[in-house]
Amino acid sequence: MAEPLSVPCRLRTKGSDLSLARGCTMGDMNTLFDPCQVGAWTLRNRVVMAPQTRNRAPGAVPTEAMARYYRQRASAGLIVTEATAISHQGQGYADVPGLYTPEQVQAWRQVTDAVHAEGGRIVNQLWHVGRVSHTSLQPDGGAPVAPSAIRAQTKTVLIRDGVPTFVDTSEPRALQMHELPGIVDDYRRAALAAIDAGFDGVEIHAANGYLLDQFLKTGSNHRSDAYGGGIEQRASLLLEVVAAVADAIGAPRTGIRLSPVTPANDVHDAQPQALFEHVVRRLAAWDLAYLHVIEGATGGERELPERPFDYAACRAAWRAAGGRGAWMVNNGYDLPLAQAAVEQGADLVAFGRPFIANPDLVARLQRGGPFNTPDRKTFYGGGEAGYLDYPTLSDGDTA
Ligand SMILES: Cc1cc2nc3c(=O)[nH]c(=O)nc-3n(C[C@H](O)[C@H](O)[C@H](O)COP(=O)(O)O)c2cc1C
Repeated sequence: MAEPLSVPCRLRTKGSDLSLARGCTMGDMNTLFDPCQVGAWTLRNRVVMAPQTRNRAPGAVPTEAMARYYRQRASAGLIVTEATAISHQGQGYADVPGLYTPEQVQAWRQVTDAVHAEGGRIVNQLWHVGRVSHTSLQPDGGAPVAPSAIRAQTKTVLIRDGVPTFVDTSEPRALQMHELPGIVDDYRRAALAAIDAGFDGVEIHAANGYLLDQFLKTGSNHRSDAYGGGIEQRASLLLEVVAAVADAIGAPRTGIRLSPVTPANDVHDAQPQALFEHVVRRLAAWDLAYLHVIEGATGGERELPERPFDYAACRAAWRAAGGRGAWMVNNGYDLPLAQAAVEQGADLVAFGRPFIANPDLVARLQRGGPFNTPDRKTFYGGGEAGYLDYPTLSDGDTA
């Protein structure tokens, strides 16, 4: 059952977006460190840990080290876990966790318990990679699935001779219409499994060139059936997934991640502004906890001259259509940018790489630093180094 929701209040912002939203407090001006009512949850601040794959779950089962990793970062207002496969078919990288077997559900409980013991909140990022996979990771060594049989010019990570290795993705096959209800059902079941595992909710991963993003965008979706062609058709699978997940666990426990113009994993769309304004208007039909929007190229430039996008207009379209959840922004945020974003009406700011290197990021942001630098060499795979050993201020660290 969802927790009772607080009474909606009016966002006080310097900007023009004064529409109704739950993601706010009754102050004159929100700051990054104010509590925030988001969907079913009261968050103690607006600093979110962005989802980050770390490839440290052998056999797709979460480990005790993962529980320690997330516990270290539990002072975030909200943690979004690393992307988590909803099915074996949804797997695309070595040693990433899943949420489709009883063993995985049981193993995730140590993570959710650890975060809750620190008073934190944690949602699971539900993931189907679509074509960004390799035959060696697929059931029976089959081809990865996609909206259309178009290979992504991108890499995935396999472990070869114990070493994480980037390899080309495999040639995908186009999903047939009759297979799509099964995929929607996999999302539904994974959402229920997440609640069973103790998560506060889920984030549907519809960003970064994975399955749902592949369906949305013209570069990867050349279908001529009810799931391809116009914007409405390309958005259908995403909306069916949202309906199934929200129906299963409650919209106020459901968030969604979008990346309108990222080139990540070889996706592009001919008309991203029209596409995503349609998507957010349709998403307004549910009382979702939040929309999580990656601005620009994920992990890269925030402004892409060749792919312009008006995020304020997109947010306004969502609010105008009745979207009341929190608006979460991400990509390349530092303290001044994050403070400015909140002043301009963002409810939540997600930090990725800064959280890898700074388990106590909230305390460091509150003090204005110092900040540790993340070590890229240990991002994907490996042991505790670069995972559990970044120091905190309470360790006496002054970076
Ligand atoms: C090591 C690493 C793993 C990532 N894994 C995921 C993931 O599992 N799901 C996702 O949506 N984004 C993933 N991202 C993207 C981040 O969530 C985030 O969008 C990106 O790092 C930009 O935010 P930042 O500038 O604060 O780091 C990953 C990024 C990094 C660096």
